[in-house]
Amino acid sequence: MTGFQPGTRRVVVQTGSAAATRALAARLAEVAEPGDRLALLGPLGAGKTEFAKGFAAGLGVTETVNSPSFTLMAEYAGRLPLYHLDLYRLSGAAEAIDGGLLDEREAQGVTLIEWADRMGAEVDPGRLEVRIAVEADETRTIEIRAGSSRHERFLDAVAAGAPA
Ligand SMILES: Nc1ncnc2c1ncn2[C@@H]1O[C@H](COP(=O)(O)OP(=O)(O)OP(=O)(O)O)[C@@H](O)[C@H]1O
Ligand SMILES: [Mg+2]
Repeated sequence: MTGFQPGTRRVVVQTGSAAATRALAARLAEVAEPGDRLALLGPLGAGKTEFAKGFAAGLGVTETVNSPSFTLMAEYAGRLPLYHLDLYRLSGAAEAIDGGLLDEREAQGVTLIEWADRMGAEVDPGRLEVRIAVEADETRTIEIRAGSSRHERFLDAVAAGAPA
């Protein structure tokens, strides 16, 4: 069980295809602001990278977004700079910080972190948490949790959109 902060808001959405997950992510990207960090959580093959592809598209990134597993961090130019990290191969926060992944550039852009739970036992509450669970071949349950009030605009954006 994860701790639940007072006032925490969350929305849960089901998607029936990778395209629907990308569309959901694109809606979230439309309300992204500099300094936002999104933790993308869920097992191998859940759809974290599909979410990242859609989020990038929503930021106006035209470059192809791939899994950054072998580069650790990829940077893309969009309405805001997008930083895409995958911590699958990292054992802890110290390693990430030593590797220079978390630097001041993040404040200017939006950071998506796959396997953010690898950074420590608990996900930093200052991030928007996107947790993807596999229900069936093409069905995913996506829980979006606002860690602080600064993230509520993301929840509003989901609520305002058509069902995915
Ligand atoms: N509703 C859905 N949402 C997202 N992906 C889906 C969905 N249905 C099927 N898929 C498929 O699931 C796979 C998700 O792969 P993806 O690389 O995004 O996972 P991941 O969570 O990034 O995995 P990893 O931990 O290995 O990085 C893709 O092949 C995608 O087409
Ligand atoms: Mg991935």
